[in-house]
Amino acid sequence: MRLTATLPLIVGLCLMAATAAGCGDKPSAGGQDSPANIAGSTDHPTGANQDKTPSDPPPASGSSPSQPSSHPSSPITPSAQAPDKSGASNNSNTSTPDNEYAVNDNAEHVVAHPDSVAVLVNKQFMLPQTYKPDDLVYPDVPFTYKEKIEKRMMRKVAAEALAKLFAGAKKDGVNLAGVSAYRSYATQTSVFNNYVKKDGKEKAMTYSAVPGHSEHETGLAIDVAGSDGKCAIEDCFAGTKEANWLAKHAAEYGFILRYPKGKEAITGYQYEPWHIRYVGTDISKAIADKGITLEEYYHAIPVTKTH
Ligand code: DAL
Ligand code: ZN
Repeated sequence: MRLTATLPLIVGLCLMAATAAGCGDKPSAGGQDSPANIAGSTDHPTGANQDKTPSDPPPASGSSPSQPSSHPSSPITPSAQAPDKSGASNNSNTSTPDNEYAVNDNAEHVVAHPDSVAVLVNKQFMLPQTYKPDDLVYPDVPFTYKEKIEKRMMRKVAAEALAKLFAGAKKDGVNLAGVSAYRSYATQTSVFNNYVKKDGKEKAMTYSAVPGHSEHETGLAIDVAGSDGKCAIEDCFAGTKEANWLAKHAAEYGFILRYPKGKEAITGYQYEPWHIRYVGTDISKAIADKGITLEEYYHAIPVTKTH
């Protein structure tokens, strides 16, 4: 059985998550509600263990029917909005955020429009396993290594915005370098499995996404460091001038800091000051102005309420 639904109507998911304290809140259009609608903002401890911080391994070479669909009173309805496949930065229709999904036979929520630059991918919403963006390019920016390998790639619109962001940083005397951008499902599998071996699954899941659930698979996300590569993808990146610049300016270029400090219970991941995600300037600015996450923008259930 398959279901197509829209995220603004995520209240239907509450039927599947009886413990979700925030579910009683009616999602309103356009990400305009306060974050207070999202319950459970208790912080997870973040960051102190640098030796436990994820490094970035080299890329690998490498049914039950859904409750909402069968519930007669479920407010979930198919979205009338066409997905933004253009890759344009204008995701301006914030009153109908575009995040349709289907529920597959394993009751997983598979995003219907993985090509949308506004897509929400997290512990609840996954990409189709076979998804590969068809417009991956090498961003014209320095990386912490010379090799032109898959993890340097991004979708064209994100790559172009990234080049502008790097140029803007340079003007301000901040020299950035890319560390890790696109990962295929196979690569994410390898990355995640390595972390599970190192730290165990429970710990790994606080900083690494299960395959299919990583934003890196969208080609819209990248981990960024200073050009000296120091503290790349490590907790000590927090508070550096590069991290501070990103926090202050990323939104001007259409990027958000996807896993902010203090929002761990909502995003499901520890603070990652290095992970930026392209969403287009309309959404990035709205999110930055409000100090919210992409989950809050879409009024999605905090991931820790369902995991
Ligand atoms: N580190 C982020 C959560 C990822 O694995 O996509
Ligand atoms: Zn990342």
